[in-house]
Amino acid sequence: MERIYLDHAATSPVHPKVVDKMVSILNQDFGNPSSIHSFGREARSILDEARSIIASSIGAHFNEIVFTSGGTEADNFAILGIAEAMSEKGKHIITSKIEHHAVLHTCEYLEKNGYEITYLDVNENGQISIDDLKAALSENTILVTIMFGNNEVGTIQPIKEIGQLLKNHQAYFHTDAVQAYGVMKMNVNELNLDLLSVSAHKINGPKGIGFVYIRTGTKLMSRIHGGEQELKRRAGTENISSIAGFAEAVKIAQYSVEQKQEQYQQFKKIFLEELKNQNVDFQLNGLLEKGSLPHVLNISFPGTDVEAMLVNLDLAGIAASSGSACTAGSIEPSHVLVAMFGKDSERLRNSIRFSFGLNNTIEEIEKAANKVAEIVKRLTMSNRNRR
Ligand SMILES: Cc1ncc(COP(=O)(O)O)c(C=O)c1O
Repeated sequence: MERIYLDHAATSPVHPKVVDKMVSILNQDFGNPSSIHSFGREARSILDEARSIIASSIGAHFNEIVFTSGGTEADNFAILGIAEAMSEKGKHIITSKIEHHAVLHTCEYLEKNGYEITYLDVNENGQISIDDLKAALSENTILVTIMFGNNEVGTIQPIKEIGQLLKNHQAYFHTDAVQAYGVMKMNVNELNLDLLSVSAHKINGPKGIGFVYIRTGTKLMSRIHGGEQELKRRAGTENISSIAGFAEAVKIAQYSVEQKQEQYQQFKKIFLEELKNQNVDFQLNGLLEKGSLPHVLNISFPGTDVEAMLVNLDLAGIAASSGSACTAGSIEPSHVLVAMFGKDSERLRNSIRFSFGLNNTIEEIEKAANKVAEIVKRLTMSNRNRR
């Protein structure tokens, strides 16, 4: 059976050029970048080149990039690192109700340890309000952490406006850009960002590697202690092959941003058009074009049930998701949809996320939408008959 992968927001296939790069390094360049002999120097130059490529992709300096084990560690590092370093200036942090658990659970941990956290509400499109943020800011606020684009519904936050607002405030500004990086262009100086998290496996790189951008001068405590790697900010021998693979994925992502934006927007249109042509009842969760990540399409299908939908989609060879990959196993109601529509909304039980990426074709999207329409009709019919 032909399988169609529409779950790129959960993780993405590794690009063949990334595989080639990693295999060649695993085969040849096993040196430790901290060693002074030629083996070490070779590994060091691979590491330096990767760091330069990644830094320039967001307008950062070489020494403002710290490699981590992925997006989760990058978020933890930024939030816990600022909380600890800035505790004498205040213990108030502002975030939103729709962050990834890597941010939310880290904030909840700090809350249990004496910090005050404001979780900003979002509107029905999933956007925070700048006025709410202004009202929440106080002289004790040390960090504002608001995600760039949401992993479940795709909504993009007003990052530039937040950066402007915080220009003359002591609070540092962190964004979790794990879903947005690679499909959106971003420059940390134009956006006035102090910290930014990225993960390689969302952009056709390997799993278990990411980075956190830390603006020069930012007060931040290390989380992992040991050797002097990563400019003394994160100890441990560097994962050279994954870092080089990550940089290769970044290079590819960089030159194809506009093309991807156009292609994925077209996929969205084709998908929704097919549902309309088939008279499927559906509602979009989040925004369609401006204000939404191009690769994420979250749809509510009234009269269906998310578990039955996912099982039937899987049987039809279509890989989609109920939202965050981390909660997919248990299919708990999505905290993002709760924040957007309230805890009693039907959408909590009938929404599916489709996310596009490498190798998807128009034919696949048409086929998938067709199958989705068939399944929705079957499920709504049998649910109606049961009532
Ligand atoms: C918005 C967002 N932040 C953080 C993460 C965690 O990244 P990683 O899987 O690299 O730990 C994810 C992964 O789903 C994500 O979508």
